[in-house]
Amino acid sequence: MGHVPVLLDEVVTAMAPRDGDVLVDATFGGGGYARALLAAADCRVIGIDRDEDAIARAEAFVSEQPRLIPLQGRFGEMDRLLRGAGFEHVDAITLDLGVSSFQLDQAERGFSFMRDGPLDMRMGRSGPSAADVVNQLDERDLATIIFRLGEEKQSRRIARAITGRRLKAPFTSTLDLAGLIEQTLGGRRGSRTHPATRSFQAIRMFVNDELGELARALVASEELLREGGRLVIVTFHSLEDRMVKLFMRERAGLQGGGSRHLPQQEAGPQPSFEMPSKKAIEPSPAELKTNPRSRSSRLRVAIRTDAPAMALPVSTGVDLPDLGQVEVAS
Ligand SMILES: C[S@@+](CC[C@H](N)C(=O)[O-])C[C@H]1O[C@@H](n2cnc3c(N)ncnc32)[C@H](O)[C@@H]1O
Repeated sequence: MGHVPVLLDEVVTAMAPRDGDVLVDATFGGGGYARALLAAADCRVIGIDRDEDAIARAEAFVSEQPRLIPLQGRFGEMDRLLRGAGFEHVDAITLDLGVSSFQLDQAERGFSFMRDGPLDMRMGRSGPSAADVVNQLDERDLATIIFRLGEEKQSRRIARAITGRRLKAPFTSTLDLAGLIEQTLGGRRGSRTHPATRSFQAIRMFVNDELGELARALVASEELLREGGRLVIVTFHSLEDRMVKLFMRERAGLQGGGSRHLPQQEAGPQPSFEMPSKKAIEPSPAELKTNPRSRSSRLRVAIRTDAPAMALPVSTGVDLPDLGQVEVAS
């Protein structure tokens, strides 16, 4: 089965497509959002994805729907990508973070601990793979990644087991790593989730620099959106949701839990975004029932004001080892 989009109706409503708009679906994936947006108005949709398979799907769809403009690349550099394609400003941008079901279901992409495949996990197929990361980083760095990105309490035991085992044979396959983690943690113990779930999520997020990409995308969106333009982000991880929330609150002049209606101590920059609601939108009970992948999803929306971009860097909120130190060996 293909990818069932999460919070689809809520995303389309938040994007508020109008005839003539230029919208960005910065995580094209299976094209669920892009198709719905193109059907909702006589707009153009720029479909970005770093995965060549997703872009091939988008290109196949263009013959049917010429208002779709596929662009392969990372959303962290969408300002450069869009300018290269002749777009200075756009009316709305959406991001639906994480992996698609297409990626998870293809064993050879190496994302799944349920299917045997090469230990890869790269969405864009360049740079170090998951095997490079688990075979090269030292025990402390591996533990840091698994703890911070996977929120795995047993991160140290897992990192020690990985570095011990790789002395005998480097890791090459998903089931090899998943099996070692399962063995280290003593099997499932009645839990419904596989013991490798958190570690796999952490390694995937590290390999693809997912938090760094999000930080750069937030800054780029502030430059790209025109006045009234909408930023619509679906996250699946508490660290991502926190980054989006803090960014939106800061740019709306609401950081520190204060209100921008209170007298200002010091005149800071004018807010570059407004938040229609401070609360995240969560999936409905009906969606939770039919699409288990929606379980941890949160949607946040901000609307661009006419103030200049603050152009301040966005922190990922976590210290991680440098991906640049990992050599591409496999
Ligand atoms: C959850 S899926 C999106 C699904 C899509 N909304 C749909 O309805 O089919 C996420 C997609 O974003 C892509 N992606 C993740 N990080 C990216 C990045 N930094 N730059 C570009 N694409 C990225 C992945 O390759 C994947 O195809």
